[in-house]
Amino acid sequence: MAEDISEKTEHGGHDSIAEVYDNQKKGWYMNRLKVVPRKVSELTGKERPSVLEMGCGTGLVLSWFEGKKTGVDCSAGMIEVAKRQRPDAKYAVSDVRSFRTREKFDAVVMVDLIEFIEDLSFLSGARGMLADGGVLFIANASPKLRPAVWLLDKMKRKLPTGKWLWRKPQEITAAMEAAGFRNVCSESRFPHVYYWGFE
Ligand SMILES: C[S@@+](CC[C@H](N)C(=O)[O-])C[C@H]1O[C@@H](n2cnc3c(N)ncnc32)[C@H](O)[C@@H]1O
Repeated sequence: MAEDISEKTEHGGHDSIAEVYDNQKKGWYMNRLKVVPRKVSELTGKERPSVLEMGCGTGLVLSWFEGKKTGVDCSAGMIEVAKRQRPDAKYAVSDVRSFRTREKFDAVVMVDLIEFIEDLSFLSGARGMLADGGVLFIANASPKLRPAVWLLDKMKRKLPTGKWLWRKPQEITAAMEAAGFRNVCSESRFPHVYYWGFE
Protein backbone atom coordinates (compact mmCIF):
# COMPACT_ATOMS: atom_id res chain seq x y z
CA MET A 1 0.00 0.00 0.00
CA ALA A 2 1.15 3.56 -0.69
CA GLU A 3 2.52 5.61 2.20
CA ASP A 4 -0.19 7.55 4.02
CA ILE A 5 0.91 11.18 3.88
CA SER A 6 -2.45 12.70 4.78
CA GLU A 7 -1.33 13.51 8.34
CA LYS A 8 1.42 15.71 6.88
CA THR A 9 -1.15 17.96 5.22
CA GLU A 10 -3.16 20.66 6.97
CA HIS A 11 -6.57 19.01 7.02
CA GLY A 12 -5.86 16.15 9.43
CA GLY A 13 -6.50 13.30 7.03
CA HIS A 14 -9.43 11.65 5.30
CA ASP A 15 -8.06 8.14 5.82
CA SER A 16 -10.36 7.35 8.72
CA ILE A 17 -13.47 8.18 6.67
CA ALA A 18 -12.46 6.66 3.31
CA GLU A 19 -14.76 3.65 3.52
CA VAL A 20 -17.88 5.68 4.44
CA TYR A 21 -17.14 8.76 2.30
CA ASP A 22 -19.03 7.68 -0.84
CA ASN A 23 -22.28 6.99 0.98
CA GLN A 24 -22.14 10.27 2.88
CA LYS A 25 -21.33 12.34 -0.17
CA LYS A 26 -23.97 10.87 -2.48
CA GLY A 27 -27.25 12.79 -2.59
CA TRP A 28 -28.39 16.35 -3.21
CA TYR A 29 -25.01 18.09 -2.78
CA MET A 30 -23.21 15.56 -4.98
CA ASN A 31 -25.91 15.51 -7.68
CA ARG A 32 -25.60 19.25 -8.14
CA LEU A 33 -21.90 18.72 -8.94
CA LYS A 34 -22.81 16.74 -12.05
CA VAL A 35 -22.64 20.03 -13.92
CA VAL A 36 -18.82 19.93 -13.50
CA PRO A 37 -17.99 17.66 -16.50
CA ARG A 38 -20.44 19.63 -18.65
CA LYS A 39 -18.83 22.96 -17.74
CA VAL A 40 -15.34 21.56 -18.30
CA SER A 41 -16.34 20.25 -21.75
CA GLU A 42 -17.80 23.64 -22.62
CA LEU A 43 -14.68 25.51 -21.45
CA THR A 44 -12.18 23.20 -23.17
CA GLY A 45 -14.33 22.80 -26.28
CA LYS A 46 -13.76 19.03 -26.00
CA GLU A 47 -16.35 16.32 -25.50
CA ARG A 48 -13.87 14.06 -23.69
CA PRO A 49 -11.17 16.31 -22.22
CA SER A 50 -8.18 14.79 -20.45
CA VAL A 51 -8.44 15.62 -16.76
CA LEU A 52 -6.24 15.75 -13.69
CA GLU A 53 -8.28 15.94 -10.50
CA MET A 54 -6.32 17.23 -7.52
CA GLY A 55 -7.78 16.06 -4.20
CA CYS A 56 -9.82 13.40 -6.03
CA GLY A 57 -10.79 11.49 -2.87
CA THR A 58 -12.55 8.26 -3.86
CA GLY A 59 -12.81 9.37 -7.51
CA LEU A 60 -16.55 10.17 -7.46
CA VAL A 61 -16.28 13.31 -9.60
CA LEU A 62 -13.54 11.86 -11.80
CA SER A 63 -15.84 8.95 -12.69
CA TRP A 64 -18.11 11.36 -14.57
CA PHE A 65 -15.35 12.24 -17.05
CA GLU A 66 -14.90 10.01 -20.09
CA GLY A 67 -11.45 10.96 -21.43
CA LYS A 68 -7.99 10.11 -20.10
CA LYS A 69 -8.04 10.82 -16.38
CA THR A 70 -5.72 10.96 -13.38
CA GLY A 71 -6.57 11.53 -9.73
CA VAL A 72 -4.19 12.67 -6.99
CA ASP A 73 -4.90 12.66 -3.27
CA CYS A 74 -2.76 12.65 -0.13
CA SER A 75 -4.94 10.05 1.57
CA ALA A 76 -3.84 6.51 0.75
CA GLY A 77 -7.18 5.27 2.12
CA MET A 78 -9.22 7.43 -0.26
CA ILE A 79 -7.03 6.37 -3.21
CA GLU A 80 -7.39 2.73 -2.25
CA VAL A 81 -11.21 3.04 -2.43
CA ALA A 82 -10.92 4.96 -5.74
CA LYS A 83 -8.78 2.23 -7.29
CA ARG A 84 -11.18 -0.46 -6.11
CA GLN A 85 -14.44 1.28 -7.07
CA ARG A 86 -13.38 3.28 -10.13
CA PRO A 87 -10.41 1.57 -11.77
CA ASP A 88 -10.77 3.37 -15.13
CA ALA A 89 -8.49 6.24 -13.99
CA LYS A 90 -4.81 6.49 -13.02
CA TYR A 91 -4.23 7.45 -9.37
CA ALA A 92 -1.36 8.77 -7.28
CA VAL A 93 -0.95 9.34 -3.55
CA SER A 94 0.66 12.75 -3.27
CA ASP A 95 0.33 16.16 -1.65
CA VAL A 96 -1.17 18.37 -4.36
CA ARG A 97 1.10 21.21 -3.23
CA SER A 98 4.15 19.35 -4.49
CA PHE A 99 2.65 17.00 -7.12
CA ARG A 100 4.17 17.36 -10.59
CA THR A 101 3.97 15.31 -13.78
CA ARG A 102 5.28 15.93 -17.26
CA GLU A 103 1.89 14.92 -18.66
CA LYS A 104 -0.32 17.75 -19.90
CA PHE A 105 -4.09 17.85 -19.38
CA ASP A 106 -6.95 19.76 -20.98
CA ALA A 107 -8.26 20.50 -17.50
CA VAL A 108 -7.12 20.45 -13.89
CA VAL A 109 -10.12 20.07 -11.62
CA MET A 110 -10.41 20.66 -7.86
CA VAL A 111 -13.66 19.86 -6.08
CA ASP A 112 -13.99 20.60 -2.35
CA LEU A 113 -10.22 20.74 -1.96
CA ILE A 114 -9.02 24.27 -1.41
CA GLU A 115 -10.90 24.74 1.85
CA PHE A 116 -8.26 22.42 3.35
CA ILE A 117 -5.23 24.29 2.02
CA GLU A 118 -4.04 27.48 3.69
CA ASP A 119 -1.65 28.79 1.02
CA LEU A 120 -3.15 28.90 -2.46
CA SER A 121 0.14 29.69 -4.21
CA PHE A 122 0.28 25.96 -5.12
CA LEU A 123 -2.26 26.80 -7.87
CA SER A 124 0.65 27.94 -10.05
CA GLY A 125 1.83 24.30 -10.16
CA ALA A 126 -1.45 23.36 -11.86
CA ARG A 127 -0.66 25.73 -14.72
CA GLY A 128 2.44 23.75 -15.63
CA MET A 129 0.38 20.58 -16.07
CA LEU A 130 -2.11 22.15 -18.46
CA ALA A 131 -1.96 21.84 -22.23
CA ASP A 132 -1.96 25.14 -24.19
CA GLY A 133 -5.21 26.95 -23.45
CA GLY A 134 -6.17 24.37 -20.80
CA VAL A 135 -8.48 25.26 -17.95
CA LEU A 136 -8.27 25.16 -14.16
CA PHE A 137 -11.75 24.45 -12.78
CA ILE A 138 -12.51 24.74 -9.08
CA ALA A 139 -15.78 23.84 -7.34
CA ASN A 140 -16.39 24.64 -3.71
CA ALA A 141 -19.20 24.70 -1.19
CA SER A 142 -20.90 28.08 -1.19
CA PRO A 143 -20.10 30.23 1.88
CA LYS A 144 -23.89 30.37 2.31
CA LEU A 145 -23.69 26.76 3.52
CA ARG A 146 -21.52 27.71 6.47
CA PRO A 147 -24.30 27.82 9.12
CA ALA A 148 -25.71 24.47 7.92
CA VAL A 149 -22.27 22.83 8.00
CA TRP A 150 -21.65 24.28 11.49
CA LEU A 151 -24.96 22.81 12.67
CA LEU A 152 -24.26 19.38 11.13
CA ASP A 153 -20.88 19.42 12.85
CA LYS A 154 -22.48 20.21 16.23
CA MET A 155 -24.99 17.39 15.66
CA LYS A 156 -22.09 15.07 14.79
CA ARG A 157 -23.64 14.48 11.37
CA LYS A 158 -20.66 15.84 9.42
CA LEU A 159 -17.65 13.72 8.52
CA PRO A 160 -14.62 14.76 10.59
CA THR A 161 -12.64 16.32 7.76
CA GLY A 162 -10.66 18.70 9.98
CA LYS A 163 -10.10 22.42 9.58
CA TRP A 164 -12.34 23.98 6.91
CA LEU A 165 -11.47 27.42 5.52
CA TRP A 166 -14.48 29.40 4.28
CA ARG A 167 -13.06 31.64 1.61
CA LYS A 168 -14.64 34.62 -0.07
CA PRO A 169 -14.95 34.21 -3.88
CA GLN A 170 -12.72 37.29 -4.38
CA GLU A 171 -9.93 35.62 -2.41
CA ILE A 172 -10.05 32.60 -4.73
CA THR A 173 -10.19 34.55 -7.98
CA ALA A 174 -7.30 36.74 -6.75
CA ALA A 175 -5.22 33.63 -5.95
CA MET A 176 -5.92 32.25 -9.45
CA GLU A 177 -4.85 35.50 -11.06
CA ALA A 178 -1.73 35.66 -8.89
CA ALA A 179 -0.91 32.12 -10.08
CA GLY A 180 -0.99 33.41 -13.67
CA PHE A 181 -4.40 32.21 -14.87
CA ARG A 182 -6.14 34.33 -17.50
CA ASN A 183 -9.81 35.28 -17.92
CA VAL A 184 -10.65 34.17 -14.40
CA CYS A 185 -14.40 33.90 -13.77
CA SER A 186 -16.71 32.66 -11.04
CA GLU A 187 -20.32 31.62 -10.97
CA SER A 188 -22.53 30.84 -8.02
CA ARG A 189 -24.94 27.92 -8.44
CA PHE A 190 -26.13 27.06 -4.98
CA PRO A 191 -24.92 25.00 -3.13
CA HIS A 192 -21.61 25.51 -4.97
CA VAL A 193 -19.45 28.27 -6.37
CA TYR A 194 -17.48 27.48 -9.55
CA TYR A 195 -14.26 29.19 -10.61
CA TRP A 196 -12.27 28.85 -13.81
CA GLY A 197 -9.27 30.38 -15.49
CA PHE A 198 -7.08 29.55 -18.47
CA GLU A 199 -3.41 28.51 -18.65
C1 LIG B 1 -13.84 16.76 0.71
S1 LIG B 1 -12.76 15.62 -0.08
C2 LIG B 1 -13.21 15.85 -1.79
C3 LIG B 1 -12.90 14.63 -2.61
C4 LIG B 1 -13.43 14.69 -4.07
N1 LIG B 1 -12.88 15.82 -4.78
C5 LIG B 1 -14.93 14.73 -4.09
O1 LIG B 1 -15.50 15.80 -4.41
O2 LIG B 1 -15.56 13.71 -3.75
C6 LIG B 1 -11.21 16.48 0.00
C7 LIG B 1 -10.04 15.61 -0.45
O3 LIG B 1 -8.88 16.44 -0.54
C8 LIG B 1 -7.78 15.70 -0.08
N2 LIG B 1 -6.72 16.64 0.31
C9 LIG B 1 -6.77 17.63 1.25
N3 LIG B 1 -5.60 18.29 1.31
C10 LIG B 1 -4.80 17.70 0.38
C11 LIG B 1 -3.46 17.93 -0.05
N4 LIG B 1 -2.71 18.89 0.49
N5 LIG B 1 -2.94 17.13 -1.02
C12 LIG B 1 -3.70 16.14 -1.59
N6 LIG B 1 -4.97 15.89 -1.24
C13 LIG B 1 -5.51 16.67 -0.26
C14 LIG B 1 -8.33 14.86 1.06
O4 LIG B 1 -7.53 13.74 1.36
C15 LIG B 1 -9.70 14.49 0.53
O5 LIG B 1 -9.72 13.25 -0.13
